[in-house]
Amino acid sequence: MREIKITDDIFWVGVNDRTTDLFEGLWPIETTGISYNSYAIKDQKNVLIDLAKAFKTDDYFDQISNIFPFADINYIILNHMEPDHTGVIKTLRMLSPRAEIVCTPKAVPLLKDYYGITEGIRPVNDGETLDIGSRTISFHHVPFVHWPETMVTYDPKTKVLFSCDAFGGYGALQGALFDDEYPNMVFYEKESLRYYANIVAKFATPVLNAIKKLSSIEIACIAPSHGLVWRKSPARIVELYRTWAEYGTTGGEKGVTLLYGSMYGNTEIMMNAVAEGISSAGVCPEIFDVARNHPSYMLPALLVNKGVAVGAPTYEVSLFPYMRNILEKTALKNIKNKKAVYFGSYGWSKGALKKTRELTEPLDWQFIGDLEFAGGADSFAVKKGFELGRLIAEAASR
Ligand code: FEO
Repeated sequence: MREIKITDDIFWVGVNDRTTDLFEGLWPIETTGISYNSYAIKDQKNVLIDLAKAFKTDDYFDQISNIFPFADINYIILNHMEPDHTGVIKTLRMLSPRAEIVCTPKAVPLLKDYYGITEGIRPVNDGETLDIGSRTISFHHVPFVHWPETMVTYDPKTKVLFSCDAFGGYGALQGALFDDEYPNMVFYEKESLRYYANIVAKFATPVLNAIKKLSSIEIACIAPSHGLVWRKSPARIVELYRTWAEYGTTGGEKGVTLLYGSMYGNTEIMMNAVAEGISSAGVCPEIFDVARNHPSYMLPALLVNKGVAVGAPTYEVSLFPYMRNILEKTALKNIKNKKAVYFGSYGWSKGALKKTRELTEPLDWQFIGDLEFAGGADSFAVKKGFELGRLIAEAASR
């Protein structure tokens, strides 16, 4: 097997996953895949940084054995305990019983809870260092990026930051490891945004805190545990993460996410009128049928666009269930500070608008208009729908 080098003595020993359908059992990756990046440093002390999901373990362990014998591994650094990075630890422990596990103090109970491991652990404090021969690597706690126990590891010799989930993205590696080797950055940036919106968005403040904390470190290369290694433009992925994390305060960019669901076509007729109103104001709506799109793909639009149009009928005195699902996911991911409008049809009872407001109440969404209509959308109502579209487009353009 070909060695994949980050630098002369740092190697990528990760796994590409193209067969898992749902990441975290939730988020579709069947068309994009994901990588579990793991790194080996060959020095006077041999080090593994982050591991992989318990998946394709022969492939994973073969790569490590090409770099150094298992008996010669001195340290296993676990930046983060989620099982996509630790799933092979019990097997690795059997292969390398003398290797010390390096992690934050908060990771120690998780090692016991997930894997029954209680010995051979070296908890490290924020800023603590470890001499491994020709360099002294350092550990920097970044709580809640993505779990409370998370840290990053820095190698001052090569200026590589091993950032784990931070600055990661969906997308299995497609024959290239580095950002300067792969020509389609649109794919990785889009999949990094989807990953951010699905996995990290709830922790926007910790992300901004981590970026601020790491700004004092000279970084030549960002080696996350998912997706590309950013060697040419490490600042690019940091800036993208900063921008996405700041949307919670700025509200996002000019644009409207138009979510709709329709039982018999009446709310869909109104949706078309709202879309025409949005377009007439010079804004391209991003339209999603909530019954036919997975929340994974709607959350990035909701994060980025300043405006949201929620179009859904009343269903059993409440909100159309698929709309309820995406709004609950939006609340879970703390996608805040939007301008919003509601429209939708009702039959024997209203209820959808009330539930929409209730679900988004913790998110500081400002509802600037609504249009509940009984039964079908007559021409008068459709005209009002057009005006509602203009209203949200103008609010989302400021
Ligand atoms: Fe990639 Fe939070 O684990």
